[in-house]
Amino acid sequence: MQSAHLGPLEVARIGLGAMGMSFGYTGAGSDDAEAIRAVHRAVDLGVTLIDTAEIYGPYTNEELVGRALQGRRDQVVVATKFGMVAHDGRGPWTPDSSPANIRLAVEGSLRRLRTDRIDLYYQHRVDPGTPIEDTVGALAELVEQGKIRHIGLSEAWRDTVRRAHAVHPIAALQSEYSLWTRDQEQILPLLRELGIGLVAYSPLGRGFLTGAIRGPQDVEALDDGDFRKDHPRFTGENLARNLRIADEVRAVADQVGATPAQVALAWLLAQGGDVVPIPGTRRADRVAENVAAADVQLDARQLAVLDGLTPAEGGHHTDAQMELIER
Ligand SMILES: NC(=O)c1ccc[n+]([C@@H]2O[C@H](COP(=O)([O-])OP(=O)(O)OC[C@H]3O[C@@H](n4cnc5c(N)ncnc54)[C@H](OP(=O)(O)O)[C@@H]3O)[C@@H](O)[C@H]2O)c1
Repeated sequence: MQSAHLGPLEVARIGLGAMGMSFGYTGAGSDDAEAIRAVHRAVDLGVTLIDTAEIYGPYTNEELVGRALQGRRDQVVVATKFGMVAHDGRGPWTPDSSPANIRLAVEGSLRRLRTDRIDLYYQHRVDPGTPIEDTVGALAELVEQGKIRHIGLSEAWRDTVRRAHAVHPIAALQSEYSLWTRDQEQILPLLRELGIGLVAYSPLGRGFLTGAIRGPQDVEALDDGDFRKDHPRFTGENLARNLRIADEVRAVADQVGATPAQVALAWLLAQGGDVVPIPGTRRADRVAENVAAADVQLDARQLAVLDGLTPAEGGHHTDAQMELIER
């Protein structure tokens, strides 16, 4: 596979998101053996960027990735995220990017990932209670100590990105970017000016763009704990309207002779060598399908059709989650 650059960090063109192996989606945690096979298949196919976070589980996803990477650690770029677990007793889902919390969080992530360094360590959400300069200052110390190699941010917006980058170079911004979530295009010029890569999370629209959801019955069939059951784009009238988008992607896929998932990923790859999608799957066969998107070529007409897809109805997160996202 070709490579891409996230600032100074070289990674393969397509990464792997591990979240859904343990957390968030239907089937999470039900088949760790297949999830580990999926990680191994990814590494065998040349994927290097493996993405997890402290809050996924919490903790169980990092543990799974640590187990899966035993004996393969040096072949990959391990990326994880801190800042959504407050280790002062307030616990999970409490934003805390204070230097004291980071110093505790990193030790737990290193232990669970069974490694002596994290290649890319992201702040998961901007913490309104901690100046970004303090957060990045603490991360810069971890770089000096060799505990982390590169610093990332997630769902931060322009002012925070500039301020953070002024303290220590930021390698990557990880934010939702896909055919149906396009607002990252407003920040890409700044990222390019500063030499920061864009890691595109939920590049398959949480599975929607693959055509897996054909109607309310498919959403009802998801596990009770599956986030998508409350997701604005997967529910009510929005869902009915959004189905058209999946049809439009499938029409291009049929033309290209690829799958809808591959078209969704190939479109992201066409946005630039500094855009790295991290599709998530628990299944080894889907890892292979997604990685093969690196060989799918879209012509100018197909790209134009994809650029002009029907816009999505509904926010890309629930209102409560949107409050943690900077815009
Ligand atoms: N920074 C953040 O705040 C943030 C937020 C969300 C996600 N992320 C990261 O981004 C990664 C990817 O995002 P995501 O998992 O939310 O969404 P995604 O990659 O857009 O979609 C994942 C869903 O698509 C399904 N899928 C994957 N490949 C498929 C294929 N070829 N055909 C049909 N279905 C397919 C998966 O099901 P199966 O598992 O059953 O294949 C899963 O339900 C996560 O794993 C996580 O590491 C970060």
